Amino acid sequence: MIREPQHPLRVFSGVQPTGRLHLGNYLGALTKFVALQDQHECVFCVVDLHAITVRQEKSMLAANTREIAAAFLAAGVDPKRAIIFVQSAVPAHAELAWILNCTAKMGWLERMTQFKDKAGKDKERASVGLFTYPVLQAADILAYKTTHVPIGEDQKQHLELSRDIAERFNREYDVPGFFPSPEPLTQGPGARIMSLKDGTIKMSKSDPSDLSRINLDDSPEQITKKIKKATTDPDGLPSTVEGLAGRAGASNLVGIYAALAGCSNAEVLAQFGGQGWGMFKPALAELAVAKLSPVATRFSRYQNDPAELDRVLADGAARAHAISAPILREVRDIVGFWKA
Ligand code: TYM
Repeated sequence: MIREPQHPLRVFSGVQPTGRLHLGNYLGALTKFVALQDQHECVFCVVDLHAITVRQEKSMLAANTREIAAAFLAAGVDPKRAIIFVQSAVPAHAELAWILNCTAKMGWLERMTQFKDKAGKDKERASVGLFTYPVLQAADILAYKTTHVPIGEDQKQHLELSRDIAERFNREYDVPGFFPSPEPLTQGPGARIMSLKDGTIKMSKSDPSDLSRINLDDSPEQITKKIKKATTDPDGLPSTVEGLAGRAGASNLVGIYAALAGCSNAEVLAQFGGQGWGMFKPALAELAVAKLSPVATRFSRYQNDPAELDRVLADGAARAHAISAPILREVRDIVGFWKA
């Protein structure tokens, strides 16, 4: 990691409380959170303000929020080292989002592919919040003067926008270097986990087929069945990474193995190249069960202890507020707002 001269290194990331977490969230985000917390100051947020950009069931929102906190803990995020909190509990996010809405340009947001995907054909009916979703994401990041953001590849465009907003704010108000330019951390084979049914689309909470994804709370039997049914092709595993070109399903399974084992695709192929799927899929299923079962057990234990989760989240909110409130005071001064 490169350290920016005037900004201490700080990591921030967020996950939406919009349904069950899957292997993509786990490998693309949660495992990175755990790896980073040993060396850096880390702030991890359950982004409920983002969740309500599309309709949420009121009776489920708080439960889904606790569920993401439980997943952070189950994956191994340590609340003594990292800060874990809920976005709506810390006022800096919404306040800075408004100020940055006045810095970001309509044209920048119109280019965001996630908005186009989520709004679909009928964008007139999408909420304004869905349109400005990436500005709130920039506010999350910049309210902590974050330098590094662990995310899956699907979030790279939003990160670029955060950088553009930070740079424009610094220029507009003539405060060079006030906000850092946050760097995305997307390295590694887990950054882009694809659907098990179609290796050309990403694994997603919203895919109607449950066979397309491995959920964090799936049983070993479900995990094994889903891997067995995953789409591949008639050829076996190639011996080199070049041999995966144009083979989306095969690349995905090799990538999942590599991410779970903590090695490269080339190392997986050195071990399994030349074998058929009938050999590889059971090995992958065994590895996935070995890695995910302990997480699922801890996940269910934390979910059954909402009082503990609430303690973690309340403590996290106080610590997050202590960092972001002084930064927001600086922002208010920079913008020129009245103060007594
Ligand atoms: P969310 O909840 O949709 O996704 C949470 C994280 O999971 C990653 N991810 C994946 N990684 C690899 N393969 C996949 N198939 C896959 N699907 C999801 C996402 O990239 C993300 O890292 N907009 C963010 C939430 C957010 C945020 C932030 C992130 C709000 N504010 C500030 C970083 C910093 C999102 O997509 O959440």
